[in-house]
Amino acid sequence: MITIPSKLPGTNNSIFSVMSRLAEQHQAINLSQGFPDFDCDPQLIRYITEAMKKGLNQYAPMAGLPALRTLIAEKMNAFYAANYHPDTEITITAGGTQAIFTALTACISPGDEVIIFEPAYDAYAPTIKMLGGIVKPYELSPPNYEIDWEMVKKLFSVNTKMIILNSPQNPTGCILSEKDIKALVKLTKNTDILILSDEVYEHIVFDGRKHQSVAQYPELRERSFIVASFGKLLHATGWKVGYCLAPELMMKEFRKVHQFNVFSVNTPMQAGIAKYLKQSDQYQLLSPFFQQKRDVFRSLLSETRFKLLPCSGSYFQCVSYAHFSDEKDTDMAEHIIRSYGVASIPVSAFYLRNTDHQILRFCFAKKQETLEKAVERLVKL
Ligand SMILES: Cc1ncc(COP(=O)(O)O)c(C=O)c1O
Repeated sequence: MITIPSKLPGTNNSIFSVMSRLAEQHQAINLSQGFPDFDCDPQLIRYITEAMKKGLNQYAPMAGLPALRTLIAEKMNAFYAANYHPDTEITITAGGTQAIFTALTACISPGDEVIIFEPAYDAYAPTIKMLGGIVKPYELSPPNYEIDWEMVKKLFSVNTKMIILNSPQNPTGCILSEKDIKALVKLTKNTDILILSDEVYEHIVFDGRKHQSVAQYPELRERSFIVASFGKLLHATGWKVGYCLAPELMMKEFRKVHQFNVFSVNTPMQAGIAKYLKQSDQYQLLSPFFQQKRDVFRSLLSETRFKLLPCSGSYFQCVSYAHFSDEKDTDMAEHIIRSYGVASIPVSAFYLRNTDHQILRFCFAKKQETLEKAVERLVKL
């Protein structure tokens, strides 16, 4: 029998697949995985279909369609007063996930250490490990998941290669403040530490707060890859189109990997998205759109036994049940699917050591009726 030594021993199906499968088996309302249950704008679909009909069906340039890269450059300027050259500093990717994988692959060598903040999105650690890198997790705690930057400094060593940021954060819904960013500027000054800043929820920020992009801070911009996702922006997570931004020298290395990783991203999607974004004010609409959903969901959940954690951005609401049960969060999530028909994600899945604070994550990127039906079930708990 042929066997291959696993690059990721101990890795099984992601918690998202497990919970979604369980939700399907029990016909539960699925608030686990982070995707909308409503469709994107039909106009966007028309533009993409139009691009296909016009024959835009062959390979795009390796870095992506120039029209789309130019629009991204304009957006970065308008939102963050940051200049990224479309020819040399912006690459269209197959979703944020590929941008993360490619940036890490371009930079991480065996023995390099990468600091991540946990609970962390699940794509970072396996990729670092696959590359022979060492994950240095900093475990944050509910309810506010604040970062003590002195603690981050303690994780530094001569092998520290990169820090991964994610704001707005999945799963906690927390965002980095200007104070956080300034602390990071100070901490990385006179070092050659790189930053991978996962900003896929940059346009989903609530209560008048402002997203702090590393692009706004020249000291951070010069050492950062920024990851973004059109799936999140356009309610079309299944299309898997995103992009990466980085200063020219870093982007050069990124593209060396990208060209052998995917070469280029599908052409009609890029053309349709570029045409759509030229006319739409989606960037401005997204925060109020999801803030309304967050407010409705939080107000409905206030009738349940759960304690609500703060939610300043992203489309995830975390809740605690520690005051009424000491069940493990994985057991609680499964119990709620089987007995009440609502799927969530146990937040311990976002810690390498499966640290359990008895918190569940719900995705509220759903139609109002879905949220109402889910909470009708959750109040019975
Ligand atoms: C924090 C974070 N980063 C990256 C991604 C991946 O984005 P994409 O679906 O564009 O690959 C996700 C998707 O859920 C995410 O939550």
